[in-house]
Amino acid sequence: MNQMAGKLDTANVPFSDADFQALAALAHREFGLSLAQSKKPLVYSRLSRRLKAREINSFPAYLDLLGKREENAERLELISALTTNVTSFFRENHHFETLRTDSLPASIERARNGKRLRIWSAGCSSGQEPYSIAMTILDMMPEAPRHNVKILATDIDPQIVAKAKAGRYPAEEAGSIPDGFRKKWVKLEDSGTGQISMSQDLQKLITFAELNLIADWPIKGPFDAVFCRNVAIYFDQDTQKRLWQRFSELLAPGGFLFIGHSERVTGPASATLRGVGITSYQKTAAASAATNQ
Ligand SMILES: C[S@@+](CC[C@H](N)C(=O)[O-])C[C@H]1O[C@@H](n2cnc3c(N)ncnc32)[C@H](O)[C@@H]1O
Repeated sequence: MNQMAGKLDTANVPFSDADFQALAALAHREFGLSLAQSKKPLVYSRLSRRLKAREINSFPAYLDLLGKREENAERLELISALTTNVTSFFRENHHFETLRTDSLPASIERARNGKRLRIWSAGCSSGQEPYSIAMTILDMMPEAPRHNVKILATDIDPQIVAKAKAGRYPAEEAGSIPDGFRKKWVKLEDSGTGQISMSQDLQKLITFAELNLIADWPIKGPFDAVFCRNVAIYFDQDTQKRLWQRFSELLAPGGFLFIGHSERVTGPASATLRGVGITSYQKTAAASAATNQ
């Protein structure tokens, strides 16, 4: 074994094209990830850390490990290593503006009359996105907790979902939260930890869960809006097209889909989702009528 001062030296572990192809095939099969050959150096650098952590000295051995049924945790480490969790409060703020002006008014009125209001943050990372949605709703509908109003927040990575549920962040992150919202729903912890925490009012509106977007969804729509931003970017074209179509099917008539700044709706869903602003789409009435027949 290639050891250095008692520690595994992964610096020189060979990484052949065949190793890369086998990893790329697994990442595609299990998670829909698309890894172009140009990503080989990045994959090498990210996964070398996993080899080190598991004290494994070759990529074929790591692939064997990943293939074992009981190694689900390592398969999730793989996806964490190959994707990023970068997010922030009110990221791509224009989506929250569209939510406020074009989507929520009608949904809130319906919710006040006893109907459901549902929003899905799909690929929510550490939770800043669903908490931003919750603040936007509570600002417009302070009585939301007494109505049938829920935000579903899902991510494939169990560690990141646990972090989202905890709702604690470094205080610097509060900078992108509008002042009025921060005063109402964000608490600076007294203990001098430099952490902020999300209020119970926000937490009560959100249900967090683990979900792989390319697997089955045990989820019933319809949703008034779906946020799936900066997630599909990791998927190949066909997987993206299927994803947009599945969202379209789950959206309520006139429902909104918000996607990441470098993403575009493509494939069959382009016929049912009309572009209504920067990376914002609305399910057309014709599509809604067809779905509801
Ligand atoms: C860059 S973050 C985006 C966070 C947030 N939506 C935003 O735009 O700020 C991408 C998230 O997608 C998640 N992800 C990647 N592949 C996924 C999959 N197959 N199913 C569900 N989530 C996935 C990652 O775990 C990560 O938390």
